[in-house]
Amino acid sequence: MDNEKKKKKPRAGRFSGDLSDVAAKISSSLHFDSRLYHHDIRGSRAHAKMLNRIGILSDQELALIIKGLSGIEEEIKAGSFSFSEAFEDIHMNIEAELTRRIGEAGKKLHTARSRNDQVALDMRLYLKQESGAVHELLVKLVRVIVDSAEKSMDIIMPGYTHLQVAQPVRFSHHLLAYAWGLLRDIGRLRAAAAACGGLPLGSGACAGVNYPADREFVRRELGFEEIIPNSMDAVSDRDFVLDFLYFASVCGVRLSRFCEELVLWSSSEFGFVKLSDSVTTGSSIMPQKRNPDIAELIRGKSGRLAGNLVAVIILLKGLPMTYNRDLQEDKERLFDSVDTIKLCLAGMIEMLSTMAVNTDRMRQAVFKNFSTATDIADYLAMKKIPFRESHEIVGRIVRSCEEKGIDFFSLTVEDFREFSPVFGEDIVEILDPEKSPDRKLSAGSTSRKEVAAQIKALKEYIT
Ligand code: ARG
Repeated sequence: MDNEKKKKKPRAGRFSGDLSDVAAKISSSLHFDSRLYHHDIRGSRAHAKMLNRIGILSDQELALIIKGLSGIEEEIKAGSFSFSEAFEDIHMNIEAELTRRIGEAGKKLHTARSRNDQVALDMRLYLKQESGAVHELLVKLVRVIVDSAEKSMDIIMPGYTHLQVAQPVRFSHHLLAYAWGLLRDIGRLRAAAAACGGLPLGSGACAGVNYPADREFVRRELGFEEIIPNSMDAVSDRDFVLDFLYFASVCGVRLSRFCEELVLWSSSEFGFVKLSDSVTTGSSIMPQKRNPDIAELIRGKSGRLAGNLVAVIILLKGLPMTYNRDLQEDKERLFDSVDTIKLCLAGMIEMLSTMAVNTDRMRQAVFKNFSTATDIADYLAMKKIPFRESHEIVGRIVRSCEEKGIDFFSLTVEDFREFSPVFGEDIVEILDPEKSPDRKLSAGSTSRKEVAAQIKALKEYIT
């Protein structure tokens, strides 16, 4: 540690000794909060302009600060800035270096400001920006799904409940089920971004500041929707962090479920899809393997997204008003969730846009396992047999087929008539799983008409 700098810390006036090594290690956040540098400098610029407006900084001092901050920002961006561990966080690193470079004017920058309102500001600016990046990825993913749904309108596969074959559905319909969920995720993300819309700066440590801070000016400068009306709330609130972590957890769970299906579908037992080489790995021992590692890892990473939410919600649980140092612990969890959800979304986009669909395997699967049993029961119901009775009749047919090791297609109309006299020649068409989806008449069903309507509606949302 650089002893020269150590002496210049704000401890200088109040304390005679330095933090112990272990305490300094616990206290330091520089290794993770340095990613806030751009937002910190942006906030400082707006704050300095405001101090100039209310007569605390002269024009010359303001100019020096703005120039000094720009130089620091460029160096950090280029990777040539030398951070000092003598200053525990990004805020103090920047301020100390500014003062070293420009002298007295730098020492005035922190007038009417505390790191408590400063860090709350930086976090909101950071999250607003990152929410935009995540939003773009989400929309792109929905687009990839909608495009591939549009191309696979003719592909019929089994729909499952309890992972048992249930009824024939369009592959498009199955894909679109995820698109609708992602649309809700977009709603949650937007709400999380909107929760960052209040300006905390000007609240000071907790009570407000002894200067006529022009918060309205800073609000406009930084593009916030409103000024947070209570200075204590401003420095202690981390709801916006929770909102994002919750969004990321829910979205992560969705991606995880989708990945679980990709893992199943790409197995030799299902064989519904083939993931591209770019997202598939081999085994170090078994030469034949094509492992869906990327899908498995996205499924796995959803666990840390949920963990991050739990970590921060518990972090906040017992905190009294207002700022408590515990709040520093929100950052690594938030940063990890931001990085993780971006990575997972990008991975999903690549997997889905490069995946090959095996139409034949889906077709074979839907022709097995009595997937049209419900259609047969409905056929009988249409012929005035109460549905409960129809259900039982078809149950008996399935049981008898199973005992003989055959499926519906081996039965003649005569065979059907043994179970009920109302069966006619028209039962043959009912047995065809490829005709089943278009018999669905309800809104939101898997019929061609309804799936096309979904595609149209989704396209409107994402353009
Ligand atoms: N590094 C702190 C955080 O991330 C901000 C500094 C506020 N520190 C303080 N002692 N009031 O929350």
